[in-house]
Amino acid sequence: MKKKLTFLGIETSCDETAAAVVQQDSNGKAKVLSSEVSSQSKIHEKFGGVVPEIAARAHLENIDFIINKCLQRSKIKLDDVDGIAATAGPGLIVCLNVGLSVGKTISAFKKKPFIAVNHLEGHALSPSLEKRLEFPYLLLLISGGHSQFLIVKNIGDYEQLGTTIDDALGEAFDKTAKMLNLGYPGGKLIEKYASKGNERKFNFPKPIINRAGCNLSFAGLKTAVLRETKNIGKDINQKYDLAASFQKTINEILKKKTLVAMNQFSEKTRKLNSHFVVAGGVAANLSIRKNLKEISLAKNFQPLFPKIEYCGDNAAMIAWAGIQRFKKKFKNKLDFSAKSRWPLDDKAPFMKGPGLKL
Ligand code: KG4
Ligand code: ZN
Repeated sequence: MKKKLTFLGIETSCDETAAAVVQQDSNGKAKVLSSEVSSQSKIHEKFGGVVPEIAARAHLENIDFIINKCLQRSKIKLDDVDGIAATAGPGLIVCLNVGLSVGKTISAFKKKPFIAVNHLEGHALSPSLEKRLEFPYLLLLISGGHSQFLIVKNIGDYEQLGTTIDDALGEAFDKTAKMLNLGYPGGKLIEKYASKGNERKFNFPKPIINRAGCNLSFAGLKTAVLRETKNIGKDINQKYDLAASFQKTINEILKKKTLVAMNQFSEKTRKLNSHFVVAGGVAANLSIRKNLKEISLAKNFQPLFPKIEYCGDNAAMIAWAGIQRFKKKFKNKLDFSAKSRWPLDDKAPFMKGPGLKL
């Protein structure tokens, strides 16, 4: 019988200080023994976004406490874990370095294997904390820093089908919330406001909707939102309507681009009835979940979303990705450096900047 595997995961890539202890049982099922997330959103709220140096300092002040709390809750001693997994990128270097250094130090002291985890792989595998995932599957990763469609062929084996050529989807939500003076982070607030508004009130553009495959663009939409926010002032009902119209536009863009991605996936893999995973912070949005579930069922894909608590940044998904990599015998040396940019598919073209042809 295969042995249980227990990993400590550490995540500090942006503004959440997180640690988790996750166990894989002998049947391959995940059990989250503890997962602690300390959000810094209150600290960054007054700046309207994450300030890297302040975030790194807050990680430093918090990390020991969070790891200890998490170990206590799991009732697991460091001596009994099989390995340490820490996020090594992509993200803010000064922030990544905090969790990565702590992870490497524990690994060195306790003589435990060390796994450097790609944060995006953590999101990609997050639904398998609850449900068994079958490769290959189609992934839509929508977070504060990334928006991409990928074929997940295996652990560490990805093919990018499309990505954003400008803003990430979470960023578009956050900027819209900022323009409406709703606060930070904005995604959840836009969703709340949208539930009270008339989604047909404003007509927003859908950039590159009929071209460029399943690549995405949100910059033109953001500019259009900015123009409207200047006209509506402090009128709360107009804010509700704008949030609802913005969210409806996003849903229409995601619907169209998901259909393109599904066709590309089916042509490339010839696989029927595959999973369609939607992960990352924006996957917590209930109207997006509903919209993408409907398309999946119509196109014979099995929709799969992480539990809401594992959509946003957390360390359970990092420990879990660490276990999966460890099983594949991918280990890392302690000189592994943090990476601000770390695409899952390193052969995919870089899709931002001047001179981009679509
Ligand atoms: O995955 P995540 O926690 O961090 C990154 O890796 O970036 O994603 C954070 C993003 C933020 O932009 C936040 O506004 C967005 O996810 N978000 C949402 C919702 N909850 C979080 N966007 C739309 N609707 C939500 N309910
Ligand atoms: Zn994330």
